[in-house]
Amino acid sequence: MTIEGANHWDGVYATKSETEVSWFQPIAGPSLELVDRLAIPTSASFIDVGGGSSRLVDAMLARGFRDLTVLDLSAVALAAAEKRLGRAGDGVEWIVADATEWEPKRTWDVWHDRAAFHFLVTDDGRQAYVRRLHRALAVGGHAIIATFALDGPEKCSGLPVRRYDALGLSTVLGDAFALVTTVDRIHVTPAGNNQKFQFSVFRRTA
Ligand SMILES: C[S@@+](CC[C@H](N)C(=O)[O-])C[C@H]1O[C@@H](n2cnc3c(N)ncnc32)[C@H](O)[C@@H]1O
Repeated sequence: MTIEGANHWDGVYATKSETEVSWFQPIAGPSLELVDRLAIPTSASFIDVGGGSSRLVDAMLARGFRDLTVLDLSAVALAAAEKRLGRAGDGVEWIVADATEWEPKRTWDVWHDRAAFHFLVTDDGRQAYVRRLHRALAVGGHAIIATFALDGPEKCSGLPVRRYDALGLSTVLGDAFALVTTVDRIHVTPAGNNQKFQFSVFRRTA
């Protein structure tokens, strides 16, 4: 998946402006709402997996978080985010990697994923992702995973996705992750279309 996946995403980010991609949000509202609701301290370490060029990292920096990492398949997406942030992003770690193949070298307190996990449509891909999640998330840490909801779109960026509710996600993640909360949110794309998402939070218990 890596080469063709990276080519697909680099192509998208190279040919569309930040605000032209369907997943663009000027403010990563639902994610920030959950960070607030969980009362995550600014000392916590945070990784945005499949973060692309999302402005979530800008908002986390503005809130005072300092240990921030963004991982994505697309070097083009990460370079755009890094350029946008300029000096403000000096402390951010940018990792170009496939979340299903990457070997994490440390752990984080919070793992965030909005609309990357749902592209994993094979059991092997999902299990590889969950193994990385298990290794990279500290015990007691939180995973915030947003996907298209069961009645959300069947494709994103021209690729098929798997849709979830909290129970479906919980089944894939397994016993080491306890569901903390789940919320449904509608994302309005720049073209004006509504997309139904679910955002679920899990705590790593073992
Ligand atoms: C729909 S975009 C969402 C981007 C960002 N999370 C946001 O909310 O704006 C999906 C992102 O996931 C990345 N991605 C897809 N599959 C991936 C994988 N296996 N490993 C890492 N990143 C991946 C893509 O490059 C893209 O940036």
